[in-house]
Amino acid sequence: MIAPEPYRIRSVEPIRLAPRSERLAALERAGYNLFRLASRDVFIDLLTDSGTGAMSADQWASIHRADESYAGSASYERFVASVRETTGFPEVIPVHQGRAAERILFETLLRPGDVVASNTLFDTTRANIERVRARGLDLPEPSALRLSETTPHKGGVDIARLAFALEREPVRMVILTCTNNGLGGHAVSLGNVEAASRLCRARGVPLFIDGARFAENAGLLARTEERCRGRTARSIAAEIFSLADGCLVSAKKNGLAHIGGFLAVRDEALAGQLRQNLVVTEGFETYGGLAGRDLDAIAIGLRESLDEALLAHRLDQVEFLHQALRAAGVTLVSPAGGHAVYVDAGALFPQIPAAEFPGHAFACALYLEGGVRTCEVGTLMHGSGPELTRLAIPWRTYTASHLEYVARVAGEVAARRKSATGLRIVSAPPALRHFRAVLAPA
Ligand code: F0G
Repeated sequence: MIAPEPYRIRSVEPIRLAPRSERLAALERAGYNLFRLASRDVFIDLLTDSGTGAMSADQWASIHRADESYAGSASYERFVASVRETTGFPEVIPVHQGRAAERILFETLLRPGDVVASNTLFDTTRANIERVRARGLDLPEPSALRLSETTPHKGGVDIARLAFALEREPVRMVILTCTNNGLGGHAVSLGNVEAASRLCRARGVPLFIDGARFAENAGLLARTEERCRGRTARSIAAEIFSLADGCLVSAKKNGLAHIGGFLAVRDEALAGQLRQNLVVTEGFETYGGLAGRDLDAIAIGLRESLDEALLAHRLDQVEFLHQALRAAGVTLVSPAGGHAVYVDAGALFPQIPAAEFPGHAFACALYLEGGVRTCEVGTLMHGSGPELTRLAIPWRTYTASHLEYVARVAGEVAARRKSATGLRIVSAPPALRHFRAVLAPA
């Protein structure tokens, strides 16, 4: 059972389960790459929670109120006020999505050979670091790699290894990805951010929060970290941001918007440099590649993502899917993440070697079995394991019956796990290969 959605649905979008023969043909046409599927061929789309959620009536209304002036729009003022209220950072720079924030920050601060240390960098973050010939260094909490262990704060950075790296390597900045999307979607505890912040300040290394899912991170901590119990997600998130020098946020997640993002920092001089890059590559500083209406939708979405009832329901939904999948006999990463459930496909399909992508094999099988689209997070995406399949739940989009259906389909795939086979790459681009690779059954 799951508590009722704290909203009612007033605008709907039809979805259709194509017959199995059509699904197989679509998968073959897509080169066994779910990013290449047409959405009309997908029944339940758990590929990502990025830009795929439902906006509120308030957000849609704001789209009509928006100010589309090139410079100094009222939409920008509302956007800045909301970002400041959420993060506490005074300098706010809009960008068209998260990876633009990454590019601008790294082009401004990194030099070839620099190291960026992190709990786990997201794929685009790492790609943007490598683009300026710097190096990403993932130092996840050791418990994150013990996939079935149910301890709650597996999203953090390994503090001992971070201290060592800060001493021995040319670390130019530290990024904490909250939640840890690349490895289970788990929370980074307030204690972990505090410890990382102390190390960074002692060495004069800036600490940035990749806050794509800052709200889920705070909501999970309110449930699991002793010192956060009983506090609002807003106050926990604000404390986390207060321990950092800045943040990069894809507003396609906790902005509850279809597009957008921002950089926010404390230092005025750094902000000036970032804006210089922005005006050349994204747009003028008061819109940064977005329309005024996008800025307004984000301003409202940021507040809604911290709404206690909405956030509680979101976390409950992910937990509900986790429990339903476990009951269906699917091996999972535990505990449930804030935005997604991760299947431990390596454990489910031990006969499929890493080079034949067990996480992707599970994703393809889910699609063939029931038209459910998900995303591999493993060797295809990161170049190494663990071999996971992520089922990301878009905000306010699916109901419990959709999730029950997904668990039933996954249970069917798990029941036939012994006969599952892997995939091989036919062709792939050099960077971010999972987006465009063409594959075939091995
Ligand atoms: N950081 C994190 C933690 C992310 O999850 C993403 C995107 C980005 C940065 C980049 O943001 O897409 O707006 O450019 N994650 C999506 C996902 C794509 O499916 O997890 P973006």
